[in-house]
Amino acid sequence: MSSVIEKILRLKEEKGAVILAHNYVNPEVQDIADFTGDSLELSIKARDLKAGLIVFCGVSFMAETAKVLSPGSVVLHPVPGAGCGMAAMAAAGDVASYKAAHPETVLIAYVNTTAATKAHVDICCTSANAEKIIRSIPPEKKIMFLPDRNLGANIRNATGRDMELWPGYCPIHNKILPESLKAVRAAHPEAELLVHPECTPEIVALADRALSTGGMLKAVKASDKKEFIIGTEYGILHRLQKENPDKVFYPLTPLPACEDMKLITLEDIASCLENNSNEVILDDEIMTKARLPIDRMIALS
Ligand code: 13P
Ligand code: SF4
Repeated sequence: MSSVIEKILRLKEEKGAVILAHNYVNPEVQDIADFTGDSLELSIKARDLKAGLIVFCGVSFMAETAKVLSPGSVVLHPVPGAGCGMAAMAAAGDVASYKAAHPETVLIAYVNTTAATKAHVDICCTSANAEKIIRSIPPEKKIMFLPDRNLGANIRNATGRDMELWPGYCPIHNKILPESLKAVRAAHPEAELLVHPECTPEIVALADRALSTGGMLKAVKASDKKEFIIGTEYGILHRLQKENPDKVFYPLTPLPACEDMKLITLEDIASCLENNSNEVILDDEIMTKARLPIDRMIALS
C-alpha cells in the first residue's frame, strides 16, 4: 500500500472522517472512498451519515450540497477550485432577477447549481429523478428549467411538458457529436449504447437509453448484455469495469473528460484531512434557503 494511502486511512480513522466520491473522479480516489455515487446518491448519503467530518471528492456544487444537507458536519473539499462549467452558467443574481420578473413561474434547478442559486428556486432535480419532479408540477403552472438546456429538452421530449429552458449546458457532454456515437456503434453493433441526459437531444435520440451515472451502473448490472458503449465522462468506466468484470465497455472517441473532476488527487485528500483545510463555509441564510428545494426533491424521489 502506498504511503499516501496509509496516511489517508490513518487520518480517516483518527478523525472519524467519511470520504464521498463522485463516479467521475480519478480511479484511485474512487477506490479510497467510503461511498462512490451519482449526485443524488451522494446528497442523500451526506444527509443520512450524520458524520462529524466529510471529505467530498467531486466538484464544488456537490460539496456545497453535502454541507447544506449536513449542516452539523464539517465538509472539506480537497480542491476548492474544482468547479462545474454548467453550474457557472446560472449565476445567483441572474436567477434572482428572473424570479422577480416571473413570480408565477416554478423554477426547477438541476442539482448542478451553486447553493446561492438554489436559494432562489422552488425545487431541485438530478438527472436520476428529473422526469418525476417535472411530472409533479401541476399542468397549469409555467416552468423555467435551469441551467441545463439539454437535460431540459430531453425531459421535455420524454414528458411532453412545455418548459422554458435556461441557456446553460455541460461543456463536456454538449461536445459529444453524432459522428462519435455512430463510429463506435458501427464498430460494436451488439453493444447497448448508454448516454447521459446532459447530452444533446440529437445524441439521446441515437442512444438506447439516457441515464444518470448511478442509473448506468444499475442498468449494466441488471442487463443480460455483455457489451456497452458509454456516452458520458470516462471516469465512470472504472466502476463499471470493477463491478462488472465479465462485461466489456467501449468509450467514445474523443474521450469525454471533465478536467475539474480530475483535479482531486490522493495527496490533496491527505493534506486537507491532515490540516482540516478547505472547509466548505456557506452563509446560514443561503443554507436554509437552499435546503428547501433539495428537501422537496428528496421527498419526491
Ligand atoms: P450524475 O448525477 O448523473 O452523477 O451527474 C452529475 C454530473 O455532473 C454529470 O455531468
Ligand atoms: Fe459539470 Fe459537466 Fe463536469 Fe458534470 S461533467 S461536473 S456537468 S462540467
